[in-house]
Amino acid sequence: FLAFVAVIGGLAVHAWTTRAIDTTGRVDFDTALRIPPVESGTVDADGTRVFDLTMQRGTTDLGHGPDTRTWGVNGSYLGPTLRAVRGENVRVNVTNELDETSTMHWHGMHLPAAMDGGPHQPIEPGTTWSPYWTVDQPAATLWYHPHLHGSTAAHVYRGVAGMFLIDEPGTSPLPHDYGVDDIPLIVQDRKFEGDQLDDSNAIFADVGTLGDEILVNGTPRPFLDVGTETVRLRVLNASNARVYNFSFDTGMPFLVVGSDGGLLEEPQAVRSLQLSPGERAEIVVRPEAGSSHVLRSTPPELKAGFFQDRFSGGDDRLDVLELRAAPVLGSSAAIPEKLTTLPELGEPSNTRRIDLTSSTTINDREMDMSRIDEVIVAGTTELWEVTNASGTIHNFHIHDVQFEILGMTGMSPDHPSLAGRKDTVFIPPAATVRLLVPFGSHTDPAMPYMYHCHLLKHEDAGMMGQFVVVGADEVHEVTQVAGTAH
Ligand code: C2O
Ligand code: CU
Repeated sequence: FLAFVAVIGGLAVHAWTTRAIDTTGRVDFDTALRIPPVESGTVDADGTRVFDLTMQRGTTDLGHGPDTRTWGVNGSYLGPTLRAVRGENVRVNVTNELDETSTMHWHGMHLPAAMDGGPHQPIEPGTTWSPYWTVDQPAATLWYHPHLHGSTAAHVYRGVAGMFLIDEPGTSPLPHDYGVDDIPLIVQDRKFEGDQLDDSNAIFADVGTLGDEILVNGTPRPFLDVGTETVRLRVLNASNARVYNFSFDTGMPFLVVGSDGGLLEEPQAVRSLQLSPGERAEIVVRPEAGSSHVLRSTPPELKAGFFQDRFSGGDDRLDVLELRAAPVLGSSAAIPEKLTTLPELGEPSNTRRIDLTSSTTINDREMDMSRIDEVIVAGTTELWEVTNASGTIHNFHIHDVQFEILGMTGMSPDHPSLAGRKDTVFIPPAATVRLLVPFGSHTDPAMPYMYHCHLLKHEDAGMMGQFVVVGADEVHEVTQVAGTAH
């Protein structure tokens, strides 16, 4: 069996490195960008906003004919964009019509651990799980995806994911007409074998599944007709492993106005922006009337002379989306110079060191569903120093919180990829990132939240830990997760 793996591995590596990826020509953008339907749910007699989601199988044309087998939510690939308003009570009825157990996690959401949709809230086939919570955080672009331990990579890759937008009345006058000048961009790389999705390279690539074709909202070769002077793009990297370094082929500058947790204090003008899996950015573009611009990704430079192409299959460049501005553009409001004021998080009361020690371990341990790794006192702010102590790339995501990045080895904390409030951060090899983490007040000594690498193969392989949030008097009582035994 080992010899077989070695032979197949050799072939796969050979095919990988010799596959013709045209780095000089460009993609022929021939398909209008699909926009996921917005879903505002219904409002109950008691004022609760209720959403119904069904995880299901189907077939989708992803550029290889209509018969590609995919998974989706209320449809055959991806899911609707959910919208709720800060302060509302929401409930989501998530029905699993797949033939395997899954979960549904609300990435970036502040909510009780039992509602989080992580590995401890499995949804068996044919059943419905109905978490409820109060939306209690600023306007932001969040997302949802499965999180069953060991199956997250496969379930997301097949297509189960969607955006969850939080609105806050009276916040800044950014473009907000969904699908017109406020556009979701769910960016995923996919690999095909014939007319089917192929994740076999997950076995060989250290970082997990990398594709050589880009889908945006499940659209192959997408273009977007722009009809207004300014357009807001909500960019979500929903790929399993790929890190994107976005820029426009024309060099068009753009404004970063938001990151994972919501708006930045001030817009930042940039010409490129990096996003690792799970991260989001809200950007504003102002193309000239009649112009066209290709959003593309080039391998990020991890540090001087050390490019990510070692981890991305060697692609020099991936074309993502073409923006086509109409000859006459409708006028848009000016983008304000001040977007929001982020609250001071104060001094940390405790420091923790987290070492990403391999592609399967954090602090030298693999994920154990029955072990609590960290016990946090509710409402406290902590300093987490997270070091990438392995030879490959990782990122780091913490559930329930939006942290402030105090600094990263070799990078200014003002760098646009570190700005604002974040729940996920890219950590190149040998770097240390310092996070100021304001923990929430939903206590539950028996139900953990997760922290993990968001390269989904690494997460599934064990690169995940569990923390509980407890009252100050409960700290010493916590030993293991309810219902599990050693
Ligand atoms: Cu996007 Cu723990 O997940
Ligand atoms: Cu990792």
